[in-house]
Amino acid sequence: MTERSLVLVKPDGFARGLSGEVLRRIEAKGYRLVALAVTTPDRDRLSQHYAEHEGKPFYEPLLEFMSSGPVTAAVIEGERCIEGFRSLAGKTDPTEALPGTIRGDLGRDWGEKVQKNLVHGSDSSESSAREIAIWFPDLG
Ligand code: RTP
Ligand code: MG
Repeated sequence: MTERSLVLVKPDGFARGLSGEVLRRIEAKGYRLVALAVTTPDRDRLSQHYAEHEGKPFYEPLLEFMSSGPVTAAVIEGERCIEGFRSLAGKTDPTEALPGTIRGDLGRDWGEKVQKNLVHGSDSSESSAREIAIWFPDLG
């Protein structure tokens, strides 16, 4: 099966009306949308999604931020789309993210305990399978 990745437009991006811009970049790159949903994630879903970060200083602020409003969740598809979307997103810190990337073009530091950086993308095929099961259990 062609590679898939789980993409989120985080609450900061959703609130700024940037879901369309993120999806536009994904489609312009040539990846295909497989599933799409708008939802406000609860703590249970987010603690599964961000299990690897439990105990880190930004973990609680991260869960608070991510549950603060709706997100747009998408499954995208295409050869090497996991690596490809991470490249479209840019570095985690939006100040360091290069112009041309989603975080570099549209994000900035807001001086908060967690970086609000507009998007999430799976970082490996294992993460992608795990995350798609969390956000789109019906996709299998
Ligand atoms: P993501 O998982 O959301 O796609 O982001 P990422 O791989 O680029 O970064 P990761 O290290 O997995 O961190 C998850 C999210 O936590 C927030 N964060 N804030 N020091 C900080 O202020 C800090 N460190 C991490 C960001 O929202 C990051 O995307
Ligand atoms: Mg990550």
